Amino acid sequence: MSKSNAALSGTFRIGGDIEINRLGFGAMRITGPGIWGEPADRAEAIRTLRLPELGVNFIDTADSYGPNVSEELIREALHPYRGMLIATKAGLARTGPNLWTPLGRPEYLIQQAYASCRRLGVEQIGLWQLHRIDTKVPEDEQFSAVRKLLDDGVIRHAGLSEVSVAAIKAASKHFKVATVQNRYNLVDRTSEDVLDYCSENNIGFIPWSPLAAGGLAKPGSLLDKLASAHGAGPSQIALAWVLKRSPVMLPIPGTSRAAHLEENIAAAAIELSSEEFAALDAEGKAWRAG
Ligand SMILES: NC(=O)c1ccc[n+]([C@@H]2O[C@H](COP(=O)([O-])OP(=O)(O)OC[C@H]3O[C@@H](n4cnc5c(N)ncnc54)[C@H](OP(=O)(O)O)[C@@H]3O)[C@@H](O)[C@H]2O)c1
Repeated sequence: MSKSNAALSGTFRIGGDIEINRLGFGAMRITGPGIWGEPADRAEAIRTLRLPELGVNFIDTADSYGPNVSEELIREALHPYRGMLIATKAGLARTGPNLWTPLGRPEYLIQQAYASCRRLGVEQIGLWQLHRIDTKVPEDEQFSAVRKLLDDGVIRHAGLSEVSVAAIKAASKHFKVATVQNRYNLVDRTSEDVLDYCSENNIGFIPWSPLAAGGLAKPGSLLDKLASAHGAGPSQIALAWVLKRSPVMLPIPGTSRAAHLEENIAAAAIELSSEEFAALDAEGKAWRAG
C-alpha cells in the first residue's frame, strides 16, 4: 500500500449497505471560478480524478457544480465506477457564478435526480442528497419527492445537507436518512449536536470544508507544532482530527490539483494520540468561542 491510501481511514457502510473508505473526495473544485463552467485546467482536473489509485471510492458531487460539469468529468474519468460510490445532490438552482438558490419543488428534485442518472451514466444513484431544504416549499413535499425517488429505484439511499436534528427527525418520518452533510471542521463546530445525533444513529456525517483550521494554523501554534511532530502539514492534522472525531465521519476534502489530493489522502495514515486529539479539540472550541 502506498503512503497515501484512503483505506487507512477505515470503512463505513452507507445505509448499512454500501461499504466505502471513510476518507472521500469532494468534486466541487474541479469546475470553473465561482463553481461555474469548465475548469481552467481540464487535464489537471482529470488527473485529480485518478482517485482509485489512492484508494478513494467515495466521491461527493452535485448537479449544481458547474452546473453539470463536475458530474460530466466524473463520468469521463471514472465510468463505470467499479467499487465506487458516486454520491450526488440536487435542490439548488444556479443563476450565475457563485449564485446558489434553493429550489425544492418536488417535480424539480425528481427531474434533477433523473438528469444526474443520465449524466453519470448509471441506472441508479447509490446516494442522493437533498442539497438544501427550500423554505418556500412545504418540507413534507420535498421529503415525499425523496421517498418517491427511493420507491421508484432512481436512488438507493438518501441524505440531507445543512440540516438541524429536528429536520433529520422530520425527514425520517418519510425515509431512512442515510447521511447528513453539514459544514464542520476543527474551528466550525456549529453542527456538533447534529454530529452527535448521527453518531448515535449510525447516520454517515459528511463534513464539508473539512480542511479549515482558521488562525489555529499560524506558525508556533499547537497545530503547527503537532504538524512538525508528525512530519505533516497543518491541514493534514486538521483532517486527521476530523477523522478521529467519530466513526461515522466521512470527510470529503476538495481540490482541483492532483498533488493536493495526494497530500489530503495521506492524512488517513496520521494517528493522533488521545492527548493530541483532546488538546486540538479544546483549541478549536476556544477559537469558535473567541
Ligand atoms: N453540502 C454543501 O452545501 C456543500 C458546500 C460546499 C462544499 N461541499 C462539498 O464539500 C467538499 C469540500 O468542501 P470545500 O471544497 O469547500 O472545502 P475544503 O475541502 O475544506 O477546502 C478546499 C480548498 O482548499 C484547497 N486545498 C485542498 N487541498 C489542499 C492542500 N493539500 N493544500 C493546499 N490547499 C488545499 C483547495 O484549493 P486547490 O483546488 O488549489 O487545492 C480549495 O480552495 C466540496 O468539494 C463539495 O463536494 C458541500
